[in-house]
Amino acid sequence: MGTFQLADLIDDRPDEGIFRVNRAIFTDADVFAAEQRAIFEQGWVFLGMESQAAGPHDFFTTTIGRAPVLVQRDGEGVLRAFINSCPHKGARVAQVRQGNARLHVCPYHSWSFDSAGRNRAIKWKNAGCYTPAFDSEDHGLAPLPRFGNYRGFLFGSLAPGELSLADYLGEAAKLLDLVADQSEDGLELVPGQVTFTFAANWKLQLENCSDAYHFTSAHPSYISVLERRQQEMSADVVASVWENSDYWKEEAQGVAGGSFSFDHGHVLNWGIFGITPAIPLYEQAGALGTRLGEGKRDWMFNMRNLTIFPNLQIAENASSQLRVIRPIGPGMTEMRTWCIAPKGESAAARRQRIRQYEDFFNPTGMATPDDTVSYENCQAGFAGTVQPWLQGHGRGMTATQPGGNRFGDRIDLKPAHNVLADSRLSDETLLQNYYRAWAARMAPELAA
Ligand code: FES
Ligand SMILES: [Fe+2]
Repeated sequence: MGTFQLADLIDDRPDEGIFRVNRAIFTDADVFAAEQRAIFEQGWVFLGMESQAAGPHDFFTTTIGRAPVLVQRDGEGVLRAFINSCPHKGARVAQVRQGNARLHVCPYHSWSFDSAGRNRAIKWKNAGCYTPAFDSEDHGLAPLPRFGNYRGFLFGSLAPGELSLADYLGEAAKLLDLVADQSEDGLELVPGQVTFTFAANWKLQLENCSDAYHFTSAHPSYISVLERRQQEMSADVVASVWENSDYWKEEAQGVAGGSFSFDHGHVLNWGIFGITPAIPLYEQAGALGTRLGEGKRDWMFNMRNLTIFPNLQIAENASSQLRVIRPIGPGMTEMRTWCIAPKGESAAARRQRIRQYEDFFNPTGMATPDDTVSYENCQAGFAGTVQPWLQGHGRGMTATQPGGNRFGDRIDLKPAHNVLADSRLSDETLLQNYYRAWAARMAPELAA
């Protein structure tokens, strides 16, 4: 590639207290192409939830990097993942986001494939005068080189590799457990999904999920609605943390939350909410404590923004959102978002979850538009390259500790680093974790 060396893009000198990011990582077309190869088309990428293909012959479509992907359950119930491209001339065989099909008939020349990806028919084959060499080829859909399922979260990779999905997720898998274990019946996506694009780089979405610093600046209208509602709420809802949780009452001691950084670029930032009726899980608080222990239950009630690098985010606060990030170009990103929920919650809890979801998370809600406008505002600002290095990624550096802390110990969490914070620290060390994983993956591409 040649235009940039890694040191031109990420200035990482921890011993000198310096961590800087060059604007070019958000705008440069060659950097973007290298990201597609090194990050999206080499390693593990989130595909979707197992519940999106729950029954025989159910399927959904997605992408890994630039490649279209078909995730399909066959007639025997086996879940498989393929490149969604016909071996004949390459057309996508499945055209819709989600469906049920025993057979996919390619729209171009009608080659057909069963739900296990096997070729079942080639139109007018006997009249086709093919050679024996053609007959000896496998005409099925190409399976993904790697496909993994962690507790209903499906991941795939376009390249073979040494790193198992379990090793890739590492300790961050325990944070997926906090989502998956909220019901004994598992998780589901609430019907209805939203897809939208913003005219900015995908890494701005990555950052924003982990950015507590912007909340009071970018979301004033949402905050004023929250304040107004709080005045109208009953006292037991408002009391939440300190009245309803012995643990946090004893242990918080000025800590409002914090962050964890994990190997391979995964991060969590979290805040204490306490066992409060403001959260739809409240009706299950007792049962969850009995089934999973109070430590794990209490963590389910914390505000948690989780990123599984590079494209999965799960945000749990007043409601719960699953986001899939799809980079389209240096300055264009597609988001697919769902409300994710424990199966079997009461109608009242589900109603509360959906109403609170609409408030905050929907692109028509009171927060998401503030964020996407900010991304586009940054992208426009990146064109000013007189000072190419962005500042402030070192926020929280002197508060960073290696390993875990007493709060994470309650769920046996062993992160690479952690920060404990008051309500204003809002550390950006999580962003460093993204960019270190990014740099490790990009280094061979940039050197080539
Ligand atoms: S491209 Fe699929 S049948 Fe020709
Ligand atoms: Fe935001």
